Amino acid sequence: MAEITSLFVTRLYRARLNDLARRKVDPEELRDSCEAIADDDEAGQAWCEEQGYPGYTSYASLNDLPWRFPIFGLVEKALDRHVAAFCDDLGFDLQGRKLKCNALWINILPQGGTHASHIHPHSVISGTTYVAMPEGTSALKLEDPRLPMMMLAPVVKKDAAPELQRFVYVKPSVGEVLLWESWLRHEVPMNMAEEDRISVSFNYGWA
Ligand SMILES: [Fe+2]
Repeated sequence: MAEITSLFVTRLYRARLNDLARRKVDPEELRDSCEAIADDDEAGQAWCEEQGYPGYTSYASLNDLPWRFPIFGLVEKALDRHVAAFCDDLGFDLQGRKLKCNALWINILPQGGTHASHIHPHSVISGTTYVAMPEGTSALKLEDPRLPMMMLAPVVKKDAAPELQRFVYVKPSVGEVLLWESWLRHEVPMNMAEEDRISVSFNYGWA
């Protein structure tokens, strides 16, 4: 029998946000807070309109959500623990340092909205926690980082193992958190649900 192993593996972390939270985050309160902040944030709304961004993101307008709103402070504290667990899993030698949350923002994607393929520069770990995932809304689409090298590679059979696929779709439910390394390209395909898809994304880095 041949021995076949996996090398240079891309890890994806998935857990319930509250599993590692000392003080639990109430999902309904988090959702209400996201909606209230979006309604009040005129600078953010103007930025989204200028950029042609569908829906709302606080990314460019509010850089201190955890300080301003206690519930986002709780989210960040819980995320700190998830990120530490993921770094452990990844075998990172952080030389006694800890990665810190350097950005945390709300995304509200209405029906028909998409978020095109991107990476998160200047960060080590990125991720999202899910606040509203209506029936029929989009999954997160993750892309094999080696695609640019695969000029003659055949396509992979649909029924091949998930870890062999070139694209992977993950559809978390409300209250879950996903983490990946920030260089991993991902996108949110079109939200086909009538209701908004709401999530909170974040970056962790050296400072
Ligand atoms: Fe992203």
